[in-house]
Amino acid sequence: MIIAVDGPAASGKGTIAKALARHYGLPHLDTGLLYRAVGIAVLEAGGDPASPDDALEAAHHLSSALDDPGLKSEAAGKAASLVSAHPGVRAALLDRQKHFANQPGGAVLDGRDIGTVIAPHADAKLFVTASADVRAQRRHDELGRMGLDIHYDAVLNDIRARDERDSARSAAPLRMADDAVLLDTSALSIDAAIAAAIALVEDRPFSAAND
Ligand code: C5P
Repeated sequence: MIIAVDGPAASGKGTIAKALARHYGLPHLDTGLLYRAVGIAVLEAGGDPASPDDALEAAHHLSSALDDPGLKSEAAGKAASLVSAHPGVRAALLDRQKHFANQPGGAVLDGRDIGTVIAPHADAKLFVTASADVRAQRRHDELGRMGLDIHYDAVLNDIRARDERDSARSAAPLRMADDAVLLDTSALSIDAAIAAAIALVEDRPFSAAND
Protein backbone atom coordinates (compact mmCIF):
# COMPACT_ATOMS: atom_id res chain seq x y z
CA MET A 1 0.00 0.00 0.00
CA ILE A 2 1.30 3.47 -0.91
CA ILE A 3 0.19 6.31 1.38
CA ALA A 4 0.71 9.93 0.24
CA VAL A 5 0.65 12.61 2.95
CA ASP A 6 0.83 16.21 1.73
CA GLY A 7 0.31 19.57 3.39
CA PRO A 8 1.88 22.87 4.38
CA ALA A 9 4.71 23.47 6.88
CA ALA A 10 4.01 22.48 10.51
CA SER A 11 0.60 21.00 9.68
CA GLY A 12 1.51 17.77 11.48
CA LYS A 13 1.99 15.79 8.26
CA GLY A 14 5.43 14.49 9.24
CA THR A 15 4.25 13.18 12.61
CA ILE A 16 1.19 11.64 10.98
CA ALA A 17 3.22 10.06 8.17
CA LYS A 18 5.67 8.53 10.67
CA ALA A 19 2.79 7.16 12.76
CA LEU A 20 1.07 5.68 9.68
CA ALA A 21 4.34 4.03 8.65
CA ARG A 22 4.69 2.49 12.13
CA HIS A 23 1.05 1.40 12.19
CA TYR A 24 1.18 -0.33 8.80
CA GLY A 25 4.83 -1.49 9.04
CA LEU A 26 5.83 0.51 5.95
CA PRO A 27 9.04 2.43 5.19
CA HIS A 28 8.73 6.22 5.40
CA LEU A 29 10.35 9.04 3.43
CA ASP A 30 10.14 12.67 4.53
CA THR A 31 10.68 14.23 1.10
CA GLY A 32 11.17 17.70 2.61
CA LEU A 33 14.57 16.43 3.80
CA LEU A 34 15.72 16.04 0.18
CA TYR A 35 14.95 19.69 -0.57
CA ARG A 36 16.46 20.74 2.77
CA ALA A 37 19.64 18.81 1.92
CA VAL A 38 19.88 20.62 -1.43
CA GLY A 39 19.24 23.97 0.28
CA ILE A 40 21.95 23.40 2.90
CA ALA A 41 24.42 22.17 0.26
CA VAL A 42 23.91 25.41 -1.69
CA LEU A 43 24.47 27.52 1.44
CA GLU A 44 27.57 25.53 2.41
CA ALA A 45 29.01 26.02 -1.07
CA GLY A 46 28.48 29.78 -0.68
CA GLY A 47 25.78 29.78 -3.36
CA ASP A 48 22.33 31.36 -3.60
CA PRO A 49 19.31 29.03 -3.19
CA ALA A 50 17.30 31.34 -5.47
CA SER A 51 19.78 30.73 -8.31
CA PRO A 52 18.70 27.80 -10.52
CA ASP A 53 22.34 27.06 -11.46
CA ASP A 54 23.58 26.91 -7.87
CA ALA A 55 20.59 24.81 -6.79
CA LEU A 56 20.90 22.36 -9.70
CA GLU A 57 24.60 21.88 -9.07
CA ALA A 58 23.82 20.93 -5.46
CA ALA A 59 20.88 18.69 -6.45
CA HIS A 60 23.05 16.71 -8.85
CA HIS A 61 25.70 16.07 -6.22
CA LEU A 62 23.41 15.37 -3.29
CA SER A 63 24.75 12.94 -0.69
CA SER A 64 22.30 10.25 0.29
CA ALA A 65 22.46 10.95 4.07
CA LEU A 66 19.29 12.59 5.36
CA ASP A 67 19.95 12.22 9.09
CA ASP A 68 21.91 15.44 9.64
CA PRO A 69 20.11 17.32 12.47
CA GLY A 70 21.07 20.59 10.69
CA LEU A 71 18.45 19.76 8.06
CA LYS A 72 15.74 20.60 10.60
CA SER A 73 16.91 24.22 11.04
CA GLU A 74 14.89 27.25 9.96
CA ALA A 75 17.71 28.21 7.57
CA ALA A 76 17.46 24.81 5.88
CA GLY A 77 13.66 25.14 5.63
CA LYS A 78 13.89 28.53 4.01
CA ALA A 79 16.63 27.44 1.58
CA ALA A 80 14.56 24.31 0.79
CA SER A 81 11.55 26.38 -0.09
CA LEU A 82 13.67 28.47 -2.49
CA VAL A 83 15.49 25.59 -4.23
CA SER A 84 12.27 23.56 -4.52
CA ALA A 85 10.76 26.16 -6.88
CA HIS A 86 13.33 25.32 -9.60
CA PRO A 87 11.88 22.71 -11.99
CA GLY A 88 15.38 21.25 -12.59
CA VAL A 89 15.83 20.57 -8.89
CA ARG A 90 12.46 18.83 -8.69
CA ALA A 91 13.35 16.74 -11.76
CA ALA A 92 16.70 15.74 -10.22
CA LEU A 93 14.95 14.43 -7.10
CA LEU A 94 12.04 12.76 -8.89
CA ASP A 95 13.44 9.27 -9.55
CA ARG A 96 14.65 8.77 -5.99
CA GLN A 97 11.18 9.58 -4.63
CA LYS A 98 9.29 7.51 -7.22
CA HIS A 99 11.60 4.57 -6.60
CA PHE A 100 10.93 4.81 -2.85
CA ALA A 101 7.15 5.02 -3.41
CA ASN A 102 7.07 2.06 -5.77
CA GLN A 103 9.17 -0.37 -3.72
CA PRO A 104 7.57 -3.79 -3.17
CA GLY A 105 5.11 -3.74 -0.27
CA GLY A 106 4.53 0.00 -0.49
CA ALA A 107 5.63 3.04 1.48
CA VAL A 108 4.51 6.22 3.19
CA LEU A 109 5.83 9.52 1.79
CA ASP A 110 5.14 13.00 3.03
CA GLY A 111 5.71 16.29 1.24
CA ARG A 112 3.91 18.76 -0.99
CA ASP A 113 3.41 16.90 -4.28
CA ILE A 114 3.25 13.22 -3.32
CA GLY A 115 -0.42 12.72 -4.23
CA THR A 116 -0.20 14.91 -7.33
CA VAL A 117 3.22 14.12 -8.89
CA ILE A 118 5.31 11.47 -7.09
CA ALA A 119 2.60 8.86 -6.48
CA PRO A 120 -0.63 9.90 -8.22
CA HIS A 121 -1.61 6.21 -8.05
CA ALA A 122 -1.27 6.07 -4.22
CA ASP A 123 -3.82 3.87 -2.44
CA ALA A 124 -4.53 6.54 0.17
CA LYS A 125 -3.95 10.29 -0.03
CA LEU A 126 -4.21 12.61 2.92
CA PHE A 127 -3.93 16.39 2.76
CA VAL A 128 -3.05 17.50 6.27
CA THR A 129 -3.56 21.13 7.17
CA ALA A 130 -4.08 23.51 10.10
CA SER A 131 -4.61 27.25 10.40
CA ALA A 132 -1.50 29.42 9.94
CA ASP A 133 -1.80 30.58 13.58
CA VAL A 134 -1.87 27.06 14.94
CA ARG A 135 1.06 26.02 12.74
CA ALA A 136 3.08 29.07 13.79
CA GLN A 137 2.35 28.32 17.45
CA ARG A 138 3.52 24.73 17.03
CA ARG A 139 6.70 25.80 15.26
CA HIS A 140 7.30 28.51 17.89
CA ASP A 141 6.96 25.92 20.69
CA GLU A 142 9.28 23.54 18.85
CA LEU A 143 11.93 26.25 18.42
CA GLY A 144 11.54 27.16 22.10
CA ARG A 145 12.23 23.54 23.07
CA MET A 146 15.39 23.74 20.94
CA GLY A 147 16.43 26.76 23.05
CA LEU A 148 15.77 29.29 20.25
CA ASP A 149 14.06 32.48 21.33
CA ILE A 150 12.39 33.67 18.12
CA HIS A 151 9.46 36.07 18.22
CA TYR A 152 6.07 34.49 17.43
CA ASP A 153 5.31 37.10 14.74
CA ALA A 154 8.54 36.26 12.92
CA VAL A 155 7.59 32.57 12.91
CA LEU A 156 4.07 33.38 11.64
CA ASN A 157 5.47 35.59 8.87
CA ASP A 158 7.88 32.86 7.86
CA ILE A 159 5.06 30.26 7.72
CA ARG A 160 2.95 32.60 5.57
CA ALA A 161 5.86 33.36 3.22
CA ARG A 162 6.57 29.63 2.86
CA ASP A 163 2.87 28.88 2.14
CA GLU A 164 2.84 31.60 -0.50
CA ARG A 165 6.06 30.37 -2.20
CA ASP A 166 5.00 26.69 -2.09
CA SER A 167 1.50 27.41 -3.46
CA ALA A 168 2.37 30.05 -6.06
CA ARG A 169 5.29 28.30 -7.79
CA SER A 170 4.57 26.86 -11.21
CA ALA A 171 6.55 23.61 -10.70
CA ALA A 172 4.46 21.12 -8.68
CA PRO A 173 2.81 23.68 -6.39
CA LEU A 174 1.34 22.70 -3.04
CA ARG A 175 -2.13 21.54 -4.02
CA MET A 176 -4.56 18.99 -2.67
CA ALA A 177 -5.00 16.10 -5.12
CA ASP A 178 -8.57 15.78 -6.37
CA ASP A 179 -8.87 12.35 -4.78
CA ALA A 180 -7.20 13.25 -1.46
CA VAL A 181 -9.05 13.54 1.84
CA LEU A 182 -8.59 16.62 4.00
CA LEU A 183 -7.47 16.32 7.60
CA ASP A 184 -7.52 19.61 9.53
CA THR A 185 -5.43 19.16 12.68
CA SER A 186 -6.02 22.71 14.07
CA ALA A 187 -8.10 21.49 17.00
CA LEU A 188 -6.60 18.00 17.37
CA SER A 189 -4.00 16.65 19.78
CA ILE A 190 -1.21 14.57 18.21
CA ASP A 191 -2.87 11.32 19.30
CA ALA A 192 -6.27 12.43 17.96
CA ALA A 193 -4.73 13.50 14.64
CA ILE A 194 -2.99 10.13 14.27
CA ALA A 195 -6.19 8.24 15.11
CA ALA A 196 -8.11 10.34 12.57
CA ALA A 197 -5.47 9.66 9.89
CA ILE A 198 -5.61 5.90 10.46
CA ALA A 199 -9.42 6.01 10.30
CA LEU A 200 -9.27 7.91 7.00
CA VAL A 201 -6.83 5.39 5.50
CA GLU A 202 -9.05 2.53 6.68
CA ASP A 203 -12.18 4.19 5.25
CA ARG A 204 -10.66 5.16 1.92
CA PRO A 205 -12.80 4.38 -1.12
CA PHE A 206 -12.25 0.93 -2.61
CA SER A 207 -9.93 -0.01 0.28
CA ALA A 208 -10.81 -3.67 0.00
CA ALA A 209 -9.84 -3.70 -3.67
CA ASN A 210 -6.49 -2.06 -2.94
CA ASP A 211 -5.35 -4.37 -0.15
O1 C5P B 1 8.24 19.65 4.70
P1 C5P B 1 9.40 20.57 4.92
O2 C5P B 1 9.06 21.81 5.70
O3 C5P B 1 10.59 19.86 5.47
O4 C5P B 1 9.82 21.05 3.45
C1 C5P B 1 10.74 22.09 3.25
C2 C5P B 1 10.44 22.75 1.91
O5 C5P B 1 10.74 21.83 0.87
C3 C5P B 1 8.98 23.14 1.70
O6 C5P B 1 8.71 24.47 2.15
C4 C5P B 1 8.82 23.03 0.20
O7 C5P B 1 9.18 24.22 -0.43
C5 C5P B 1 9.81 21.97 -0.20
N1 C5P B 1 9.19 20.69 -0.51
C6 C5P B 1 8.65 20.53 -1.77
N2 C5P B 1 8.13 19.33 -2.15
C7 C5P B 1 8.12 18.30 -1.29
C8 C5P B 1 8.63 18.45 0.01
C9 C5P B 1 9.15 19.67 0.38
O8 C5P B 1 8.65 21.47 -2.56
N3 C5P B 1 7.62 17.12 -1.70
